[in-house]
Amino acid sequence: MKSDKFTDTTLEKDPNFVNGTATVFSPKKKNKNNQTKRVYIESYGCQMNFSDSEIVASILSEQGFINTDKISLADLVLINTCSIRDKAEKTVRNRLHHFNSFKEKNKNLKIGVMGCMAERLKEKLLEEEKIVDLVVGPDAYKDFPKLLEEIEKDREAINVILSKEETYGDINPVRINSNGVGAFVSIMRGCDNMCTFCVVPYTRGRERSRDPKSILKEINQLSKESYKEITLLGQNVDSYLWFGGGPKKDFKKASLLQKKTAVDFSKLLSLVASEHPKMRIRFSTSNPQDMSIDVIKTMSKYENICNHIHLPVQSGSNSVLEKMNRKHTREEYIELIDKIKKIIPDCGISHDMIAGFPDENEKDHKDTLSLMEYVKYDFGFMFSYSERPGTPAAKKMKDNVAEETKKRRLQEIIDLQQLHSKYRLNLMIGKKVCVLIEKSSKRSDEFWSGRTSQNNVVVFPKENYNVGDFVDVEIKEATSATLKGNAIEISSNI
Ligand code: SAH
Ligand code: F3S
Repeated sequence: MKSDKFTDTTLEKDPNFVNGTATVFSPKKKNKNNQTKRVYIESYGCQMNFSDSEIVASILSEQGFINTDKISLADLVLINTCSIRDKAEKTVRNRLHHFNSFKEKNKNLKIGVMGCMAERLKEKLLEEEKIVDLVVGPDAYKDFPKLLEEIEKDREAINVILSKEETYGDINPVRINSNGVGAFVSIMRGCDNMCTFCVVPYTRGRERSRDPKSILKEINQLSKESYKEITLLGQNVDSYLWFGGGPKKDFKKASLLQKKTAVDFSKLLSLVASEHPKMRIRFSTSNPQDMSIDVIKTMSKYENICNHIHLPVQSGSNSVLEKMNRKHTREEYIELIDKIKKIIPDCGISHDMIAGFPDENEKDHKDTLSLMEYVKYDFGFMFSYSERPGTPAAKKMKDNVAEETKKRRLQEIIDLQQLHSKYRLNLMIGKKVCVLIEKSSKRSDEFWSGRTSQNNVVVFPKENYNVGDFVDVEIKEATSATLKGNAIEISSNI
């Protein structure tokens, strides 16, 4: 169940960045003293944060916490935070200030910060935001029981130790953010790519993959609970590699047997898709330099793997890509796009783009626009560069593109993307598409809203169909971001 939406327009339209949403769950058992404590959790940032909040919900539920979606009733308020851009951090700080009035009314109220800001700022958060009692980083959630004991004794508590092994594979998430149709399944944590602008390697640590057995167990459970779609999550899913656990960089030292029996991302996809032919499978996020041809072939082999790849590029200029440490060229990216379109002609492709990276000039910007022109992405998430303290870009480069220039370039990128989205959506008119119904349309209660395999949103009259049905829909018209159509029948494919 979701409630309490807050606004931050940059993040609002990005499925990777679901905004401040309060979450609700029920406890598995009572706490030691048989008391009922209430927790209110608010999540910001990427899908991974949302998935992490579900892990924390499970850990807290074991501690006897029951949920509330009202801060005024809570004994503990947790805010799961994002550091990716300055604006994301400012949003969280504003929320923390907002919690002040609740703490004034209830002196026993404890406030905890989890996620990337906790990891990035560490003790500084306790010093700078006096309201905060608890700081816990993304790899330390199993320490919650101990940390809670500390704050109960009115001591500040902090654990921001990053782990090389932790994947939370043994925790069964409590599905607090789900509509009962789709669920996130985390398959790996951390990122080793070290893009120079990005704070994630510092806040989420080294890449490590989760045991495929525990991934399949979680999906089996979801299937039993009638979930219809799962999204395999990681900062860099194509880099998934299971060889017995531990950091990916240790694969070099693995035994011959470990190397022979290792499971990479294409194998994991095949395992999941073949075991669950009636479930739709998505994944996010892919990195161009790590995406293998085997992954694309596996996608084309299984009907139930969605034909959509989120393939962030960040810039169309070779010189900017190099300064970003993206490890691929514009030409290699185009080659990859061509391969995808050859093997899966109707594959939806989306992107992330950054405007105004240090030293970006007009030619670099034009290169970005021309790359977009070539690919004609279905949709994209576009940002202006935000310098993040501690990253290689912040240390070695000057944030030297003027704010107005960043803003203007970003607007040109957004305008072009709107044209391309419209172009792609219009191509769908007259076609029959399979839609998984997720919820009532926001605009009208008489319409369902769902998504195609390519991740396009489709709305259509409800008739006798239900949430969770796969329905063939004939597309009649396209608005700027949505397709409209009429249901034909229950789909035989998914
Ligand atoms: N691989 C990750 C990427 C996380 S960051 C994933 O799972 O999605 C998401 C996007 O935020 C990046 O692709 C990039 O476009 C943008 N971003 C990251 N750092 C940024 C910064 N310093 N300034 C502006 N945008 C940034
Ligand atoms: Fe960040 Fe690059 Fe990894 S954008 S999450 S360092 S792939």
